Amino acid sequence: MNTNQKTAVVTGSGSGIGLAVAEAFVRDGFNVVLNGRNRDKLDNAAALIGKPDQLSIITGDITNPEVANQIVNKTVEHFGQIDTLVNNAGTFSMKPFTEYTIEELDVFLGYLRGTFVLTQSVVRQMQKKGNGGSIINIGTILATNGVHGLPSSAPIASKGGVMALTKNLSVELASDNIRINAVALGVVPTSLYGELSDEQLNALNDMQPLGRYGKAKDIADAVLYLANATWMTGVILPVDGGVDAGGDGAYHGAKKESIDTN
Ligand SMILES: NC(=O)c1ccc[n+]([C@@H]2O[C@H](COP(=O)([O-])OP(=O)(O)OC[C@H]3O[C@@H](n4cnc5c(N)ncnc54)[C@H](OP(=O)(O)O)[C@@H]3O)[C@@H](O)[C@H]2O)c1
Repeated sequence: MNTNQKTAVVTGSGSGIGLAVAEAFVRDGFNVVLNGRNRDKLDNAAALIGKPDQLSIITGDITNPEVANQIVNKTVEHFGQIDTLVNNAGTFSMKPFTEYTIEELDVFLGYLRGTFVLTQSVVRQMQKKGNGGSIINIGTILATNGVHGLPSSAPIASKGGVMALTKNLSVELASDNIRINAVALGVVPTSLYGELSDEQLNALNDMQPLGRYGKAKDIADAVLYLANATWMTGVILPVDGGVDAGGDGAYHGAKKESIDTN
């Protein structure tokens, strides 16, 4: 363990995008705290990354407010301070707006509340240390672009809140040199999507202006960039194969061949 190195906490880092982010930070020299609910998954992630001296595991559900203090206290105990927080843990579902139950909505809003409370605990610690810091939220382009065929109002209500917090807090915390940015993701097939057939994967490729769906590493590169970009705050960076730039008709459900130009 090297307490002179920067330390990043990455929530939901046992798989998918969080794992790729944790790996990128370790390769960049950070100490990294892995978090998730399933210890076995986190142990496997740590084995995959290697560099055990730079890693620590804190198991816990970020929707439980008590976990926020545990994450901060154990990280400070182990590595000295927190320089970067990546609020990545999240989940997703699709269903028509009118069919979401209040219980399902509460599950998604629990992620917003958990992100809020963990960020509060981390910011208190950053303010106490007085060295500034960086917070990166994982958002989605679905929060600012409705997409035909992807009805997801409950998870998006939560993600939209996280993205709004990014802008709002960036100004409030700027005088402490605490930067807060977000990435707005396009499609990255992970365990969130379950098993996809080759045909489904090809269809996902066709939806992107850049001609391919995203890989977890594409997101990790952007998150690491934001962590090190010391004059950027309040930015919501689309990392989406070009979809946010206008995109392809297929992605937005407006089939090109069906548009009557007369
Ligand atoms: N993949 C995409 O296309 C896409 C698009 C837009 C946004 N996103 C966002 O990207 C983030 C990462 O998702 P992913 O695609 O990498 O999915 P993933 O592979 O399912 O990863 C999510 C990770 O979060 C952990 N997690 C879930 N709930 C948690 C909780 N309450 N507390 C702590 N850890 C929790 C999970 O592990 P445990 O189950 O062990 O806790 C899992 O390792 C999510 O916020 C997601 O909404 C993804």
